[in-house]
Amino acid sequence: MNQKEPVIVKVSGPLVVAENMHHCKMYEVVRVGEEGLVGEIIRLERGNAFIQVYEETAGIGPGEIVKPTGKTLSVELGPGLLETIYDGVQRPLKVLEEKSGHFLARGISADGLDHAKKWDFVPTVSKGDMVSEGDIIGTVQETSLIEHKIMVSVGIKNAKVESIEKGQHTVLDKIAVLVDENGTKHELTMHHYWPIRNPRKVLKKRVPEEPLRSGCRSIDMFFPITKGGAGCIPGPFGSGKTVTQQSLAKYCDAQVIVYIGCGERGNEMTEVLNEFPHLTDPNSGEPLMRRTVMIANTSNMPVAAREASVYTGITIAEYYRDMGYNVALLADSTSRWAEAMREISGRLEEMPGEEGYPAYLGSKTAEFYERAGAVNCLGSEGRQGSLTVVGAVSPPGGDLSEPVSQNTLRVTKTFWGLDAKLAYQRHFPAINWLKSYSLYLPNLDKYMKENVASDYWDVRGLGMSLLQQESKLEEIVKLVGPDALSVREKLILLVAKSIREDFLYQDSFNPEDAYTTNQKQYHMLKTILAIYNEGLKLVDREDFDFAKLEALPSIQKIAKVKELKMDESGKATAFEHVQSEIAKEIASL
Ligand SMILES: Nc1ncnc2c1ncn2[C@@H]1O[C@H](COP(=O)(O)OP(=O)(O)O)[C@@H](O)[C@H]1O
Ligand SMILES: [Mg+2]
Repeated sequence: MNQKEPVIVKVSGPLVVAENMHHCKMYEVVRVGEEGLVGEIIRLERGNAFIQVYEETAGIGPGEIVKPTGKTLSVELGPGLLETIYDGVQRPLKVLEEKSGHFLARGISADGLDHAKKWDFVPTVSKGDMVSEGDIIGTVQETSLIEHKIMVSVGIKNAKVESIEKGQHTVLDKIAVLVDENGTKHELTMHHYWPIRNPRKVLKKRVPEEPLRSGCRSIDMFFPITKGGAGCIPGPFGSGKTVTQQSLAKYCDAQVIVYIGCGERGNEMTEVLNEFPHLTDPNSGEPLMRRTVMIANTSNMPVAAREASVYTGITIAEYYRDMGYNVALLADSTSRWAEAMREISGRLEEMPGEEGYPAYLGSKTAEFYERAGAVNCLGSEGRQGSLTVVGAVSPPGGDLSEPVSQNTLRVTKTFWGLDAKLAYQRHFPAINWLKSYSLYLPNLDKYMKENVASDYWDVRGLGMSLLQQESKLEEIVKLVGPDALSVREKLILLVAKSIREDFLYQDSFNPEDAYTTNQKQYHMLKTILAIYNEGLKLVDREDFDFAKLEALPSIQKIAKVKELKMDESGKATAFEHVQSEIAKEIASL
């Protein structure tokens, strides 16, 4: 007898249940219904498959057929990823639009990579060379910014290059033949597929020791993240999560950016999609998209695609990391991802955990952020790469005790807490300096001392301590008024105010102010702190008139400290000049 055909028995929003699916496996991709909607098996139970469908399921019903594909949900990796905007299951939006117009038709297949485009492949190994998994065998200039490395597929070991073909090839063309130690022949192309839920293989994870420079003074000086670190940006609606993620995408010194957008507002993703392709990279002057891959979940896209999108994004990010690049993955907002998980879990009728989120929210969140890291890449060349992951979290009402924030805080080491009150006061970035933290300070100790200044951490420590003292003094002022303060305390308030207004405040939309180097940040802060260090020499004098100190011309000048420039040679003459003026004027009092 013929085996019975798989058919749909139930449809519940993005979840479809089909029977006669005994021969299928978990995470297998299936085509659902007459239209062949893309779906993935997320539970198997006595021949019934529970399928999350990445397309709108309205109109699909019981009795319609389901076709297994035998493949797990994978991304296609190879040249042509950069500059592309994808949906959550790696279909290029441009191709979808060409095939179906503005209203997304269903069941459309679209390859992740352009299979017709020819790339100029330049071999870096020759016939007779020995290679193993992860080794680079050639390159393709993917964009003006990024050279794509073609690597030997995972699983191939000690293979001899039998042939390798320079020249114009599509990603499907055979570019090399390898013969491994067992005599098995492997024909290599420039593309391959990788299952998105499995981390890509690396030789080993290293302790991250270099900063990811963001150019944002609050971040780099006070709450830094490493290349290979994991960070989160929680904050209520309108506090600046998206602006922060986008400035990271524009300015941070990763070589490749993967930006996953799950918009909070309906039109937010559209804004990003319209704006990004027109931005230029401030470092190279090239269009920013040449180092960027975007995954877009607009609000009209189905919830299951959102669930998959973070895995699609991080797998692409890992792939560039494996080439030896520093990659940054920015996900905005991961709360939308968690909500997608919650919806699907609800439809599966799983036992709900806190606030209806599935009990595995914590482990899924951890697995995601654990894919960040500084690594020794697979391959014998000793390449190093890194993947930094920063996720925005949008807790309802800004209350961090909710499950998504809590689970994210548990696994990320940098916390940039955005504050509604600061945003309301238009203090940007609205990163609360009292609540935020970075656990990467010990990792960066050596790097900052060697590359910026030997007293870097003293300067940072004093700045932070004055901000903390300020908040305590403000409490006192609230209770007993400002007259009760000593001169020393007044000095602390004066300098802390300057740190807030002249150092922390930074306008992301002003090209002059949006990016500050580590060196300049250090000298700015040190110049502001000169007021404190010099002022301290006077505070114990009985006849000291604080108003006179405040009125000194050099102290007035501090408001313009961000306009000072470092010398071409890297010296800080302009800053040192203001510091010595401060010292002279205070001494003359
Ligand atoms: N660093 C910044 N510099 C200047 N303006 C900012 C900055 N961060 C946020 N803003 C302002 O706050 C608004 C809301 O920020 P947004 O990132 O969209 O909030 P969220 O994503 O948290 O809802 C922005 O449109 C902008 O006007
Ligand atoms: Mg936002």
